[in-house]
Amino acid sequence: MRIKNCRIRGREGLYDVACADGKFTEIVQHKEDSKVADDEGLNAEEFDAKGRMMMPPFVEPHIHLDCVLTAGIPHYNMSGTLFEGISTWDEYKTTQPLAVSEIKERARAALRLMAEHGVQFVRTHVDVTETSFKGVCALEELKEEMKGIIEIQTIAFPQNGIISLKNGRELMIRAMDMGMDCVGGIPHYEYTREYGLESIKFIFDLAEKYDACVDVHCDEIDDGQSRFLEVLATTAWERGWGERTVAAHTCAMGSYNDAYCSKLFRLLKDSGIRFNSCPPASTHLQGRIDTFPKRRGLTRIKELTHAGMNVALGQDSISDPWYPLGVGNLLRVLEMGVHVAQMTGYEDLSHCLDLISTNGARNLCLKDSEYGIETGKDANFILLDGKDDLEVLRFQSPVLLSVHNGKIISRKEPVRAEVSF
Ligand code: FE2
Repeated sequence: MRIKNCRIRGREGLYDVACADGKFTEIVQHKEDSKVADDEGLNAEEFDAKGRMMMPPFVEPHIHLDCVLTAGIPHYNMSGTLFEGISTWDEYKTTQPLAVSEIKERARAALRLMAEHGVQFVRTHVDVTETSFKGVCALEELKEEMKGIIEIQTIAFPQNGIISLKNGRELMIRAMDMGMDCVGGIPHYEYTREYGLESIKFIFDLAEKYDACVDVHCDEIDDGQSRFLEVLATTAWERGWGERTVAAHTCAMGSYNDAYCSKLFRLLKDSGIRFNSCPPASTHLQGRIDTFPKRRGLTRIKELTHAGMNVALGQDSISDPWYPLGVGNLLRVLEMGVHVAQMTGYEDLSHCLDLISTNGARNLCLKDSEYGIETGKDANFILLDGKDDLEVLRFQSPVLLSVHNGKIISRKEPVRAEVSF
């Protein structure tokens, strides 16, 4: 396969790129009549990018694939709160005939939406407090089936808590025994602060035992007194687990006072942990108890980023009890994110795609060989109908080509409107 006449994000000039056997084989300056590489043994496909931008694929760092496409069953979340979302999901789990095949079908439909929008790496939470474990079985099977097309990492997610359930610890251990990749948690939802603290210790013990990453729903609440993040970061720092730890949501940081936050940032930097935020879902779910002023419910995306910490944006939901919208398009997530986090200055906008690509790759601890446009690496890339970050975000540019391991997983023609004047 050859892509001629493309920009490569982060580089000057135009390039011709060749791939073979699933790898990038040649990346050279574009010449009008040049051959990129010998045709011998190469796929005959050739694309003229006409100056459009190629970049590594988008990365979805935080979604719940076991819950996708269930909005409205058995009813919609009428208050729009996180807690009605959890209770509606509880009703779904107890009233609907759960089947592995049905969960896989919904998850696969969501993955197709994501593939269309350039996502090739996905980290999904899976509720392990659904005790039939159909969701766990479904996502573990799907993870295997999708290998080489879209890479999936699974997180053992205790939706209803670990310590607050009689058998919470056993459920987490069972899920890790079944091959899940990461240990999740929800300390702010445990019955007491002490239970939350105990859950964090348990999470890291489990991560060490299974040599797994940690990815915790942390302080997903507008309560400025919810301060499990400092415990999560300190534990990661103590155990040298920072680069393998993601603090997801940390919405309470949007309600912390500045004095506490400035002290907290020192720890966060020293710990090396990573962050995830889901702007559409959190803006929809948080601030619901406020009258006015109404909080935005987001963590400090800009401040963390400017302090040199790694923040990736994700969807959280696609049409589920927590969030009724979503089409698998991270550019929509990014557009809302840069507005609500006020990252709309030119500097931030000029590299905003980091938030849904390279930053996500770092959160997922992807291998160096599977991410980045360089000769010898896996041929994973997308071609966007735009020339740079600002244009792609502004026009919500479609992904014209998504190639994983050298194979096309999604392709789209550019759409041009005919305007009468
Ligand atoms: Fe979540």
